[in-house]
Amino acid sequence: MSAQPPQALLQVHGVTAGYAQDIDVLRDIDLRVDAGRITGLIGLNGAGKSTVIKTICGFLPPKSGRIAYEGRDISGIEPHRLIDLGICCIPQESSLFPYLSVQDNLLLPLLGRPRRFAQQMRPRLQEVFELFPALHEKRMQPAGSLSGGQQKQVEFAKAWLQQPRLCLIDEPSIGLSPKISEEVFVWIEKFAQARMGILLIDHNVRRVVRMSDRICVLSLGRITAEGTPADFQGDLHQQVQQWLGLSF
Ligand SMILES: Nc1ncnc2c1ncn2[C@@H]1O[C@H](COP(=O)(O)OP(=O)(O)O)[C@@H](O)[C@H]1O
Ligand SMILES: [Mg+2]
Repeated sequence: MSAQPPQALLQVHGVTAGYAQDIDVLRDIDLRVDAGRITGLIGLNGAGKSTVIKTICGFLPPKSGRIAYEGRDISGIEPHRLIDLGICCIPQESSLFPYLSVQDNLLLPLLGRPRRFAQQMRPRLQEVFELFPALHEKRMQPAGSLSGGQQKQVEFAKAWLQQPRLCLIDEPSIGLSPKISEEVFVWIEKFAQARMGILLIDHNVRRVVRMSDRICVLSLGRITAEGTPADFQGDLHQQVQQWLGLSF
């Protein structure tokens, strides 16, 4: 692997955050994502992984610390500004409008955008339908009538249309069959090959470790280990238990 570029695409510096004033869910978190690279974030349920994404996206302002994107401070950003900055989030829960057609869901990020943006996005729709042929077939159907795997395709297609520079992806394989999950991981690799920086959270630790350039372990709101896939070789189960702070 080549050396890290001097400026990270996303750098989280010493961030502490939480939902209640006196309870910190994240404590002094440092995290880095580079363009064209995947940073994997693994940890037990309740460790604070989704809270990391919510904090980066501005749904939860940090109590202290700083979040820098392309060198600019975006701490506590208003979430509706993310798309203009080239940041896209694929949340664990569906972000689709079930009664709108697949195509309308895909084009929704166009609403209220400058005409220039709309003109760039229309030809990309063709590209998206080539990438996800099943969606072309079902483009006029309500998104809610699609299978879970196809709805996930719509989420990824929507992200691809926006051509973000940073994509934050929370538990993309949850509820999907192993075959569809594998497709999802391949799309994520394709996103990274297109120079996007990816922050990936998934319960499939083995897959996340295999595909990430950098892996961070989050345990009770702290980063307790960090390294490359090579650092996570060997008895992964035992190592991850150790890194998560479990006794075994
Ligand atoms: N909206 C919320 N309000 C209060 N506490 C929350 C909220 N969302 C998550 N939490 C708490 O924050 C902690 C971390 O949750 P989360 O970030 O969802 O963990 P993970 O994604 O690693 O499973 C948990 O203790 C959870 O109960
Ligand atoms: Mg979560």
